[in-house]
Amino acid sequence: MSNDKSISRRALLKGSLALTAGLTASRALAEKTITPSQVEGPFYPIKPQTDRDLDLTQIQGHESAAKGEAIWVTGKVLDENGEPLANAVVDVWQANAAGRYAHPGDTNSAPLDPDFQGWGIVNTDESGQYRFKTIKPGAYGVSGSWSRPPHIHFKVSKRGFFELTTQMYFANEALNNTDGILNNVPEPGRSSLIVDFVQHNEFDAPVGQFDIILRKV
Ligand SMILES: [Fe+2]
Repeated sequence: MSNDKSISRRALLKGSLALTAGLTASRALAEKTITPSQVEGPFYPIKPQTDRDLDLTQIQGHESAAKGEAIWVTGKVLDENGEPLANAVVDVWQANAAGRYAHPGDTNSAPLDPDFQGWGIVNTDESGQYRFKTIKPGAYGVSGSWSRPPHIHFKVSKRGFFELTTQMYFANEALNNTDGILNNVPEPGRSSLIVDFVQHNEFDAPVGQFDIILRKV
């Protein structure tokens, strides 16, 4: 583990305490809306990768950090009653800042970023909380006039609950309004997938809270 990582982990531990009081709970938590599922998409990572830790901006052994705007994503995994689920597995993958996935099936001509980890798997702690640092993904064209808004893919699993595959979006993105995948999700679930990122003095980059509610089997 690099020195930079130790520093950011320490900052984050402090930050997660302050965050509980500092950020408003997401709408999903307030309304106990089960987080809606969405398509997995074609770019779930298939290339083996040893570094899948919580810091996607820094690959172990690389000098440089990923290109793009750093952000923290944090939140809780909960059951329908709002009880935290410890040790749930949160698997995330996304395009880089230019909108390109490190996946052989992505034919987008945008450049790869060799310093972007692109994929992380973390577990929730005793209070159901997870966190990871990444960069804001770029938008990318799909077909014709359809461009996907910036989004992060999630796969969340916990024994006794249905596995959830979904996507998280960024508030105030014009492309959110024209995205067929996001707009196929009925309210109130749709709003629960869109996250506001704010500056927070305990974090070294803007932080967004994405709570995830799983359905019992
Ligand atoms: Fe995607």
